[in-house]
Order: sequence, then structure tokens, then C-alpha cells
Amino acid sequence: MIAILWQTDGEPEEIAVTELLHRSGFLGTSANWAADMTLLLSLLVAALFTVGAVMALRQRYEAHRWIQTSGAVLNVILVVWLMILPYRDFVAPGIPARLGESFYWITTLHAVIGFFAFTFGNFVVLRGNGLMIKALKFNNYKLFMRAAYILYMATTLLGVWVYFAWFVNNPNPPVY
Ligand code: HEM
Repeated sequence: MIAILWQTDGEPEEIAVTELLHRSGFLGTSANWAADMTLLLSLLVAALFTVGAVMALRQRYEAHRWIQTSGAVLNVILVVWLMILPYRDFVAPGIPARLGESFYWITTLHAVIGFFAFTFGNFVVLRGNGLMIKALKFNNYKLFMRAAYILYMATTLLGVWVYFAWFVNNPNPPVY
């Protein structure tokens, strides 16, 4: 897959997406482009969920359903494409032996809470869009949605902490 980048002289540059993802990031830390983009898009997802929650409070349920569904789909892409693999490669080999080190425990705490946010959130989205199998249907929406929102926000905050632990306060940042 090819991406088009506009250079400072205004000329377009064609670049393979895989090469772009591995270039240096744009936030001035030791992160690559993919990790900086993951951070920005995760913050966008958190903002979307918050706007969507306000829509529900204002009883604009159709807008609420669309916004939360878009946020959840974007989040699935980020987690499956850009988080699970670095966890497997950089963190999983150190579990449980190195759990005492901040790099390992911060990321693992994030991954565990994130797992519940991910499962719960997508469950609610499937249910809300009429896609859940009968045996797993639930009716007390409000409680489930509130729990999913709180878990997503907690995971996002922990994710920002992960970013600092990996790329700001780390003399040996992961390179990938
Ligand atoms: C609702 C679910 C989740 C949310 C909202 C979320 C959010 C975030 C955020 C904001 C970051 C910082 C951006 C960055 O460092 O690139 C991050 C990084 C990371 N997350 Fe998650 N996360 C979720 C689920 C998970 C899960 C389930 C795992 C583990 C399997 C995981 C593993 C990681 C790893 C390894 C990083 C660092 C990767 C990198 O820097 O490229 N996350 N996450």
C-alpha cells in the first residue's frame, strides 16, 4: 500500500505505508511514526466516546450510536494492528520474570484493563447495532455502557503512561 506525503517544498512523495510507519515520529520523542499516530488516534477515540456519551445524556440516541460505533471500530483497528504485536515482541517475553520493572508492569496493567475495555466495549456496540447472538443479549444497557466508557477512559490514560514509559523516560526505547 502506498501513501502520499507532502514535503516542505510542496512536492508530493510516494512512500510505502510500512516504511512510513517505521519512520521517526512527529512528536519529538523516540517513538516512531506508528506509535505517535497510535497515541493521537487513541486520544481522538477517547474524545469521540466522550462526545457520544454527551449525546446519550441529551437523549440523541441515533447520533450516540453512530459516534460510539465509529470510535469502537477505530479502536479495534489500533489495538489489533498496532498494540498486540509490540506487546508480544517486547513485553510478553519478560512476563512474569521482569514484572517488577516499570516498563513491563505499566504496559501489562494497560493491556489487562485494555482487554476488558475492548471486550466489553465491542460487546455493547454489537448489542446496540442488533448484531449480538440471542444467548448473550442483555437489557440493562446503561450500566454496561457506563462501565465500558469508564474502562476505555482508564485504558487511554494508562496508554499515555505507556507512551511515556516507552518513548520519553526510557534510555533504551524499543525500536521496531
Ligand atoms: C480499549 C482498549 C485500548 C486502548 C484505548 C488503548 C490505548 C493506548 C494508548 C493511548 C497508547 C499510547 C500510544 C502508543 O504508545 O503508541 C497505547 C499503547 C500501547 N498499548 Fe494499548 N490500548 C488498548 C488496548 C490494549 C491491549 C488489549 C494491549 C495488549 C495486548 C495493548 C498494548 C499496548 C502496547 C504494547 C502499547 C505500546 C505500543 C506502541 O507504542 O506502539 N493495548 N494503548
